[in-house]
Parts: sequence; C-alpha cells; structure tokens
Amino acid sequence: MSTDSLFKPFSLKSLNIKNRIVMAPMTRSFSPNGVPGENVATYYRKRAEGEVGLILSEGTVIDRVSSSNDANIPHFYGAESLAGWQKVINEVHAGGAQMGPQIWHMGVMDNHHSGWVPSQPFEGPSGLNRPGFNNGNTMTEKDIEDTIIAYGKAAADAKRLGFDTVEIHGAHGYLIDQFFWEGTNERTDIYGGKTLAERTRFGVEVIKEVRRQVGEDFALIIRLSQFKPAAYDYKLAKTPQEMEAWLNPLVDAGVDILHCSQRRFWEPEFEGSDLNFAGWAKKLTGKATITVGSVGLSGDFFGAFAGESSQATSLDELTRRMDRGDFDLVGVGRPLLSDPSWTQKIHEGRTSELKGFSKEALGELVLD
Ligand SMILES: Cc1cc2nc3c(=O)[nH]c(=O)nc-3n(C[C@H](O)[C@H](O)[C@H](O)COP(=O)(O)O)c2cc1C
Repeated sequence: MSTDSLFKPFSLKSLNIKNRIVMAPMTRSFSPNGVPGENVATYYRKRAEGEVGLILSEGTVIDRVSSSNDANIPHFYGAESLAGWQKVINEVHAGGAQMGPQIWHMGVMDNHHSGWVPSQPFEGPSGLNRPGFNNGNTMTEKDIEDTIIAYGKAAADAKRLGFDTVEIHGAHGYLIDQFFWEGTNERTDIYGGKTLAERTRFGVEVIKEVRRQVGEDFALIIRLSQFKPAAYDYKLAKTPQEMEAWLNPLVDAGVDILHCSQRRFWEPEFEGSDLNFAGWAKKLTGKATITVGSVGLSGDFFGAFAGESSQATSLDELTRRMDRGDFDLVGVGRPLLSDPSWTQKIHEGRTSELKGFSKEALGELVLD
C-alpha cells in the first residue's frame, strides 16, 4: 500500500510541516539539573535530518518547585535551561523540521528510583497519585492560580525562542489528567465535580492562559489519553457524549490540535465503530488530530518499559485510516528512538532497513 498520504504537507497557523510524521514526546532524562545540552540538541537535529516533519520534545517542566520527580528531566524555565532549548530549536530548524516543546507538570508522583526529591512535596488536585496513594499536597486556589500562570509563561518563552508550536501535556496521569480523573480529584470546589466536564475546568484555564500568552496565530496542541499508567484500560470518557463534553471546552478555550494518545492506534474507542481516539476526537470537535501508538511496531510502549523488544510491521492499517480522513498527523515514538532515519526510510520505501525497537535504545541518545 502507498504511504503517499504520510508525505503530504500540513499547515495550520504557525505550523507548516513538510509531512505528517510527528516525533512523539519521549522523556530521556539526559538533561542534568534540568539543562538540555549539546547532546540533546544533536539528538533532535538527527531526527530533523531524518525527515521528521514535526518534533514534539520530551516533557519539559514548568516553573513550580515540585513539577518534576527527576533531576535529569529538562526545565522549561531559568536562563540556563532556556539557553539550552534555544540551541535545540536552532539545530532542529537547521535540520529542516519544525518543533514544539511538551510543557509538563507531573503532579503527584511516586518518588524517583534515583532517590532525588524536589525541595517541596509533590502537588496535585487532592494529593493523590492514584486512588489510595497519597504522596503530596492538595493544591490551594493560590497554587492553582500560580501554576496556570507558569504554564502560560513557558508557552510564551517557547514562542519567544522561535518554537513553532507548544504541546500541553494533559495525558498519562500527570497533573492536568489528575484533575480530569475522579480517582485523583476529590475536590469539592470549582476544580472538582462529579462529571468529567466539571473536572475539565483546570485544563480549560491552562489552555486559556496559554492562548492568551501566545496569541491567536500560534498553533496550540494538547495531549490527552483515556488510560493512566495506574489504570491501563481506564476510559475517562465512556461514551462519545462524555468525550464531547470533555474535548469541546478545551477546544473552545483555544486548542487547535488534539494529540490522542493510545497504546495501539488500531483499537476502536467505543463499541459499534472502528474509529480510534483520534478519529472520534476529530469527528466530535472538527479539529485536527494526531494519532499515536505502536505505529510500525508489533508491541506497545508499556511492553517496552517492561523490557520487551518489538519488530517492524506494515503501515497499511495506518494509511487506510489516514486516507479515510480519521486524523491529520501521526505520532511515532520508539521507532525514532532507535533510528533517526526511520521517516526517510519509509519515504524511500527502504522497509527492509527498518530496525524495530529494542530496550537498549532507552539507555542512550542514539545518533545513527
Ligand atoms: C522512553 C519513552 C518516554 C516517554 N515519555 C513521554 C513523555 O515525556 N510525554 C508523553 O506524553 N509521552 C511519553 N511517552 C509516550 C510516547 O510519546 C508515545 O505515546 C508512546 O511511546 C507510544 O508511541 P510508540 O508506540 O510509537 O512508541 C514516552 C514513551 C517512551 C517509550
């Protein structure tokens, strides 16, 4: 089957991408004291030179004392870290791709295995990382207000440094998702509530502030997932109606692109249709969407964390859905960790050279 549809350009506001391949955000923990160095800039440049259209950075944390649980995860604040990011975007542009940072606050976390902890307790809607596991503070209204401002500041800095978009990390059980999920949001004020639509309020306020900071013409992405690491098969939105009530307020607040994180992109979201999460999100909101999850690989990313390898697989089902108009862009994670030239190989039909994924790639910044 032809992969031509993956190599059509895409434009939306500040984005002018040469193809539909998006490097998915992947935490690498190679930025000591939160500062991305030359090695990180080179790592991203190699993916740009390998023909990725849009790179989304690894999650990079906002200016809150306890926004991270790992001293090697990059900050998106402070002169030294921002100077590091300036090098990254310059290198990526020189390599021919566009890029946005993934703006992140982890919320309440497990303590990191390194033993490093932030100087203040983790913070979240109710101090919970998952039901029954409290490992932090319940945010006050002032904490919430300051956090929203910190998201906006990071987005403004991204634009100022020359990034082409920003992605707000609203997925995978981190801060914004901790507000969405009833299992971690027990608040009785305006940031809590019985319905998912009510618990979307914090996310909506973050998006409004980010939009206010970057202006109307800058493309704004939010990443969302139904699952959480603490609940793999959980669905925040159990019906299309619930999904609509979750997504539309975020879109009304200023989201341009919904990045719909799934473990396996081919899995239907609701019974009675083969549409996946990105397919439903596009249908319900009319907005552009990114699909992601085991594109071109036989096993999913939770398997990878458990040490499993994956083999390269066909892109036929992906292109079938793309050609049908289910989504606009395609997120690719692990294949690009192991192989900076993955996109180019697909483009040139060099499928016999695709490498698959092995866990060794998690331990280094692969450059060739
Ligand atoms: C090493 C690694 C780190 C990741 N870090 C992040 C992250 O910082 N932010 C995020 O939203 N997703 C993160 N993910 C999830 C990926 O963005 C992606 O959704 C997932 O790997 C599925 O895509 P794949 O099957 O193509 O790898 C990470 C995945 C991996 C393998």
